[in-house]
Amino acid sequence: MGPRGLQVESVALDEIAARFGTPCYVYSRAALTTAFAAYRDTLQAKGLLDRALICYAVKANSNLAILNLFARLGAGFDIVSGGELARVLAAGGSADKIVFSGVGKAREEMRAALEAGIHCFNVESASELEQLDEVAGQLGRRAPVSLRVNPDVDARTHPYISTGLKTAKFGVAFDQAFEIYRRAASLPHLQVKGIDCHIGSQLLDPAPAAEAADKVLGLVDRLAAAGIALEHIDLGGGLGITYRADEPAPPTADYLGPMLARLAGRKEKLVFEPGRSLVGNAGLLLTRVQVLKHGEARHFAVVDAAMNDLMRPALYDAWHEIVKVGAGGTAAGTPMPYEIVGPVCESGDFLGHDRELALQEGDLLAILSAGAYGMAMASNYNTRPRAAEVMVDGDAAHLIRRRENVAELFALESVLP
Ligand code: LLP
Repeated sequence: MGPRGLQVESVALDEIAARFGTPCYVYSRAALTTAFAAYRDTLQAKGLLDRALICYAVKANSNLAILNLFARLGAGFDIVSGGELARVLAAGGSADKIVFSGVGKAREEMRAALEAGIHCFNVESASELEQLDEVAGQLGRRAPVSLRVNPDVDARTHPYISTGLKTAKFGVAFDQAFEIYRRAASLPHLQVKGIDCHIGSQLLDPAPAAEAADKVLGLVDRLAAAGIALEHIDLGGGLGITYRADEPAPPTADYLGPMLARLAGRKEKLVFEPGRSLVGNAGLLLTRVQVLKHGEARHFAVVDAAMNDLMRPALYDAWHEIVKVGAGGTAAGTPMPYEIVGPVCESGDFLGHDRELALQEGDLLAILSAGAYGMAMASNYNTRPRAAEVMVDGDAAHLIRRRENVAELFALESVLP
């Protein structure tokens, strides 16, 4: 907190609000760069950087400026749709550093990815293998493939973002993987390249990921013994971030440590797919208090951001720290526990419960750790234009997505003749 209230790098948030309006996502270039460097430095320290590819999981935040920044830092990309493929290419990412995950790739998406020349398809079912072989055959190409295996490891995170259990729709069952690899190796238009595994998101404990790595490496060795040698091992993403002080995320090096220890002395290339840990703490959502309402049972602060802008609280009961920007010399209100809610017509439209704050109407609030799965999951519910996005770089604030206007929201619709 500087003399002009809360800042991102050298820019005051009240200036950003005045210039670009609210609600507004604000990202820090320096924080994005630092988060990427933590992965690079960890791999470098273990002597693994030369054979590692850090594929940013685009779904966490797909703004072109963010993709472009990571591309400039040398990142590859983990995509899950043809749309994300187009974004990465538009942002200057190289196709040969793209891995394509997802349980239901459309043939059209397979074609686009083959034509672009991506690094690898992370295939998630036996049926997808057959389809991909067929599509590649039609194009006269061989599709590079990894199988995403489901190691049946409990990632111990929110059930909606836990993906590595037997009951999950993701990946192929661990016990079937060997046979599916044999099939893949026999298909004419596929090229077996690697193996892939991702057990969940917002993981704070390195043990499940290390356990999954053990299982994956065991399978890699069995496959090699059977004559199927893999070039790369993709261990997915999942490292969590600190949302609240009493649940701190481990430093990147500590989280990756046990996993990387298992990879020392091997020859395969490595792929990682981090999303949240690269962008989550580098972004916040700036919002203004519209109305204070003191009901019989609760105090409400209705702000101009809502569940359509940041869905995580409504969807996962996620906790985001909310702080007052505190500039402009407004007289402080009386501290009291507030329900921080948006204007959307749903009781689930909250951004924070029971937050002790001293508020006045017109105050600016910052909802922290909102860089990942914030704007990327935003919608137009209630015909609300999606927020502006700004990237701060030192003392400059750049608009990286202008606010939508209402006319744009129904421009694709038409009435009956
Ligand atoms: N790779 C695959 C195959 C994934 O499914 C995911 C995330 C990642 C990588 C990146 O994981 P990360 O490093 O970000 O944990 N919307 C939820 C998170 C959904 C994660 C989906 N998959 C949230 O807001 O918490």
